[in-house]
Amino acid sequence: MEKKNIDWSNLGFGYIQTEKRFVSNYKDGAWDEGVMTEDATVVISECAGVLQYAQTIFEGMKAYTTEDGHIVVFRPDLNASRMADSARRLQMPVFPEDKFVEAVVKTVEANTAYVPPYGSGASLYLRPYMFGSNPVIGVKPATEYQFRIFATPVGPYFKGGVKPLTLKVSDYDRAAPNGTGHIKAGLNYAMSLHAIVTAHEEGYDENMYLDAATRTKVEETGGANFLFVTKDNKVVTPKSDSILPSITRRSLMYVAKEYLGLEVEEREVGIDEVKDFAECGLCGTAAVISPVGKIVNHGEEICFPSGMEKMGPITQKLYDTLTGIQMGRMEAPEGWIKVIC
Ligand code: PLP
Ligand code: COI
Repeated sequence: MEKKNIDWSNLGFGYIQTEKRFVSNYKDGAWDEGVMTEDATVVISECAGVLQYAQTIFEGMKAYTTEDGHIVVFRPDLNASRMADSARRLQMPVFPEDKFVEAVVKTVEANTAYVPPYGSGASLYLRPYMFGSNPVIGVKPATEYQFRIFATPVGPYFKGGVKPLTLKVSDYDRAAPNGTGHIKAGLNYAMSLHAIVTAHEEGYDENMYLDAATRTKVEETGGANFLFVTKDNKVVTPKSDSILPSITRRSLMYVAKEYLGLEVEEREVGIDEVKDFAECGLCGTAAVISPVGKIVNHGEEICFPSGMEKMGPITQKLYDTLTGIQMGRMEAPEGWIKVIC
């Protein structure tokens, strides 16, 4: 299929409407077959569950063009199972995991003209989401839902590509113990908007959230997990029940151990020990791995030895290996790459 006339290399992380998206409806206890539609609008009751009580969840993944010209998606089965976990926590019906992957395939197939070419640095971002669509006025779950997947071509999440970021330790909490931090619920992002706008106004790129109970442990940012590298090259990532189990982070920990032979640790990380790390990065589908150069904790500046000009050496190796796997330059572990065409 002929590609769209888009300046792929200069894309930011924004929404570009494409022609086709997937939609399926849940009613009377069952999902319908689902269809591809050209209708990019959603018409729902003024009293829909999503509008009144924020009953909405989402996912994010990317389709890439590989070096040999195939279009692939990275580990969509893990997005399917995480979305199922999100649905259960918000008392929504699970969209069957096999049907989720099928719908991803259909959405990419219908949008191949928007999959950026190999080497452009861009990708096709896929956004599956689900929301309560029927009227709900007492506080209770909706009985009707819509599941959709749209696609939009994107460039880097952070402006400036791979230039190290400056973060602020936020005074706001992202997620409560036993709350919803571990699922991808829209409400987790709504509550982060004031915090991120404030951080941007103060000149920071992102917030570092601490655990809400003690405010002593590193959690994550508004849209990515943390990875740290110790001075003796160990890769450390925070363990917490209130952060999103990032698919990128889980993949990177595997890559660090199995491809790069590094020691890896998933454990609680105290804010007090952050100053001792050699490198820091944010990882996620949108962020890929974005290096962090500086974190400001209420006046205390933590500057990583990797500096403000480029990624640290281990972060760079992790980045090269993960993107090498995603773009087909390196052999992927079994089941990681779903070939679409
Ligand atoms: N943490 C949060 C809060 C996120 O929104 C995301 C993005 O999906 C991530 C982490 C990274 O997760 P993943 O690597 O699965 O995209
Ligand atoms: C993703 O990485 O897919 C996300 O959903 C993060 C979001 C902040 C864009």
